[in-house]
Amino acid sequence: MKISILGGTGSLGKGLANRWLKAGHEIIIGSRSLESALKATQALDIDDSNACLNDEAALLGDIACLTVPFAHQAETLQTVKENLKNKILIDATVPLVPPKVMRVQLPKEGGCAAMIAQTILGEEVRVVSAFQNISAELLQSSHPINCDVLVCGDKREDRETVINLIEDMGLKGWHAGPLCNSAAAEALTSVLIAINKNHAISHSGITVTGV
Ligand SMILES: NC(=O)c1ccc[n+]([C@@H]2O[C@H](COP(=O)([O-])OP(=O)(O)OC[C@H]3O[C@@H](n4cnc5c(N)ncnc54)[C@H](OP(=O)(O)O)[C@@H]3O)[C@@H](O)[C@H]2O)c1
Repeated sequence: MKISILGGTGSLGKGLANRWLKAGHEIIIGSRSLESALKATQALDIDDSNACLNDEAALLGDIACLTVPFAHQAETLQTVKENLKNKILIDATVPLVPPKVMRVQLPKEGGCAAMIAQTILGEEVRVVSAFQNISAELLQSSHPINCDVLVCGDKREDRETVINLIEDMGLKGWHAGPLCNSAAAEALTSVLIAINKNHAISHSGITVTGV
């Protein structure tokens, strides 16, 4: 697939790109600046033509993935909204509120970041949330990753599309219910950050047991 990563110049974007490129997918890196996008495509050793501004990246991809900080989620989505029509947007946003990132602070309005994204984008874009609990640093490495991915979205077939992309990376993705359940995945990130801090772990993660 041709996967556009919006804000793909950052830690998570580069990590996802690394794993998807290894699986044989084409990656378009979106950014607010062409110069930053080019830096990222050069670091990933892909063609310069795969570097774009976010709105163009949204247009070019078969599917898009949003990897920007929560504070900039809404403004970024406004710039790409038109170009995402009839596509799936994978939202990886975690609504952390620095400096208290070990504390769950879900947005009072909207319930969680993924639901906010769906409200901004409207019915013509199908939002699926994923990747909130996985470390960008691990994704950027070539180490095996012992962390499952919770996938929330209102349509089973859209979740399935995203789960297939997750499995292409060698990870396990789970149907975790409707988009509103993303609140639990988003909240879990603060729990994992607290576990990392209190137990001196670099990258705690989650796996589903009882299978
Ligand atoms: N890091 C992780 O381990 C991890 C894991 C799971 C989920 N997440 C979530 O994934 C998202 C991205 O995390 P990250 O660590 O990759 O973030 P990041 O590296 O801090 O930022 C990602 C990109 O966001 C864009 N950005 C920064 N400020 C912006 C602004 N004012 N307006 C619009 N875009 C802006 C930048 O792209 P340009 O400057 O190129 O436009 C930047 O490269 C966050 O919501 C985070 O909670 C992160």
